[in-house]
Amino acid sequence: MRTLDDLFAEGVSGRRVLVRADLNVPLDKQTGAITDDGRIRAVLPTVGALVEAGAKVVVCSHLGRPKGAPDPQFSLRPVAGRLGELLGAPVHFATDTVGDSARSTVADLADGQVALLENLRFNAGETSKDEAERGAFADQLAAFGDAYVDDAFGAVHRKHASVYDVPARLPHVAGRLVLREVEVLSKLTGDPERPYVVVLGGSKVSDKLAVIEALLPTVDRLLIGGGMCFTFLKAQGLEVGTSLLEKDLVETCRNLLERSGGKIMLPVDVVVADAFAPDAAHDTVRVDGIPSHRLGLDIGPETVAGFSAALSQAKTIFWNGPMGVFEMPAFAAGTRGIAEAITKADAFSVVGGGDSAAAVRALGLDESSFGHISTGGGASLEYLEGKALPGIAALEN
Ligand code: 3PG
Ligand code: MG
Repeated sequence: MRTLDDLFAEGVSGRRVLVRADLNVPLDKQTGAITDDGRIRAVLPTVGALVEAGAKVVVCSHLGRPKGAPDPQFSLRPVAGRLGELLGAPVHFATDTVGDSARSTVADLADGQVALLENLRFNAGETSKDEAERGAFADQLAAFGDAYVDDAFGAVHRKHASVYDVPARLPHVAGRLVLREVEVLSKLTGDPERPYVVVLGGSKVSDKLAVIEALLPTVDRLLIGGGMCFTFLKAQGLEVGTSLLEKDLVETCRNLLERSGGKIMLPVDVVVADAFAPDAAHDTVRVDGIPSHRLGLDIGPETVAGFSAALSQAKTIFWNGPMGVFEMPAFAAGTRGIAEAITKADAFSVVGGGDSAAAVRALGLDESSFGHISTGGGASLEYLEGKALPGIAALEN
C-alpha cells in the first residue's frame, strides 16, 4: 500500500489532491450543531500536511444516509466551517458534489488551499450497486484530482464510488489516519499480547454476530453488555422484561454460549427502567429478577466490578459499543465504569467505533489514556472479522 509519504516524494505542490475523508460526524437533532468533531480532527494530519506541501486539497465525504439526492439536514456546510477553524484557514465549500459549484470551487483553488465538496451521498452514483452508475460518478469525482488519498477509515468497508472506484482512476495512496488504523488493528488480528479481552456493547446482536464468531477462537475473554446482552440472557433461559430482544437470534446466542468454552461473560445485574426516557424511574436488579414490565438500560455495578476485574488482567483490549444508554446520565454508569477500567488496565487498548469513541469524549474521559481510538465502527469490526475491505483492497491494487 502506497502512503502519503510516497506522494510527497513525488511532489504535490500545485497538484490537485482529492482526499476522501469520513467527516460523518454526529449532529444535534434540534440545532444541527456538530456534537463530536473527533472525525474532523482525525484527518487534520493528512489535510494539514498536504496544505503545507502546497497541494490544492479537495476533500470529499459522506454525512448520514441521505437517499441519493440533496437533503439539507445532511449538508456538510457546518463541517466545512469546523474544518476551517481547526486548520486555521478558510475551507472553500462547494454547494454541490460534482456540479457547477464544485467545478468552479476546485478550479479557483490556489496552492495550499482547501475545498470541501457537498455530501457525496446526495448523488445516487456514490452508493449504487450498479458498477456503471458508480463508475460514471467516480469519473466525475476523479476529474477533480491529479492524485487520490484515502483517509476515510470509517468508510473503507463500503464499496462506494469515492472509496472503491475513484482509486482505480487516479494514482492513490493511504492517508495518515488510514495507515495508523490499519497498523493498530493488524496488531489485534496478528499476535496480541495476552490476556486479550474484548468488550462488546451496543444495541444489536445482529450487528456483532460475525465479529463474535471471528473473535471467539482468538480472545481470552469476551465481555458482553449493552442492549445486545438481553438476547444472550434470554438464551440462558432468563426473562428480560421489555428489554431489547432479537427473538430470532436467541438460538444463535445459545449456540455461541455453548461453544464459547466459558470465554463469554454476561452481566449479573442490570439497571431496569419503566420507560426509555432520561427521567424514567429505575432500579438495579439481578439478571434473574428483571420485572416483566421494565426494560434494561444499563449494566449494573456488580457487573461493572466483574468486567473491570477481567479487564485489569488484560494486556490487550478491544472495546466496541456502549454498555448502556450513556446519553442519559441515569444510564451512563456502566459505560463510564468500563471505560475507566480500560484506562486503568496496563494494556494496549483500542476503542473501536463512532459511538464508543463519542462516548469516551461525551463522558469527559481522557482520550490519551487509551492506546488508540478508532474512527471506524463498522469498519473496525469488519477488519477484525477478517473481511476484505473494499477501500483497503482498492489502495493495495
Ligand atoms: C460510520 O459512521 O459508520 C461511517 O461513517 C460509515 O457510515 P455508513 O454506515 O452510513 O456507511
Ligand atoms: Mg455506522
